[in-house]
Amino acid sequence: MTPQDIAKRAVGMAAVERLVAPGMKLGLGSGSTSEWMVRALGERVRAGLDVVGVATSTGTATLAREVGVRVIELDEAGELDLTLDGADEIDHRLRMIKGGGACLLREKIVAAASRRMVAIVDESKVVTTLGAFPLPVEVVRFGWRSTRKHVLELLARHGMKGREVSLRGGEDDPLLTDSGHVLLDCRLGAIADPEALERELNRIPGVVENGLFCSFANAVLVGRPDGTTREIAPTG
Ligand code: A5P
Repeated sequence: MTPQDIAKRAVGMAAVERLVAPGMKLGLGSGSTSEWMVRALGERVRAGLDVVGVATSTGTATLAREVGVRVIELDEAGELDLTLDGADEIDHRLRMIKGGGACLLREKIVAAASRRMVAIVDESKVVTTLGAFPLPVEVVRFGWRSTRKHVLELLARHGMKGREVSLRGGEDDPLLTDSGHVLLDCRLGAIADPEALERELNRIPGVVENGLFCSFANAVLVGRPDGTTREIAPTG
């Protein structure tokens, strides 16, 4: 295992150990850190813990069932007690970029249905300014080039003229999300006003959702390569 894998495993396990209680309805995130969390949850379930999970992707649903976690639909669950999910970047105000694994739409719906959302990340995800990681924007396939033009115009109004916005997977074989949409990856460098960008991207016709999660995380647990974890207190 790489030092980063050790950190991801540590934080996935610590989140389950510290935050999950019997009877909880849980949102289960996607990505490699969440996989460790789901595996740790499976161990607790096999030892008798009674919880149900709502998965943020088909991959997570499959893994959760494999390890023994009962998976139900969000509409069956109603409000969730806690969602544990990874992030591609998180700043000290707990604003995040998500969607590197193409699951941002379901991740945001599940986070919005949760009383509490805790981000589980390794140190490499903690940043001062969001934007080095390409921001994913989920758009419907119909007219995606026209939608991209509007995205580029919005970025220019936000002082990010001429940034690269590419179709994930390429035009010949675009990646399709679990909901059948495509993703535009926006290489922005630094995002000056994440709240405004999150809001305004979603006003463009054709945009389904974007990977900025500015007001979702209540806390963040950070795993370290030595197997320990720390919690970041939000600032600002
Ligand atoms: C999935 O779409 C993402 O939001 C993931 O939560 C994010 O990419 C983190 O992934 P890792 O835990 O694999 O780094």
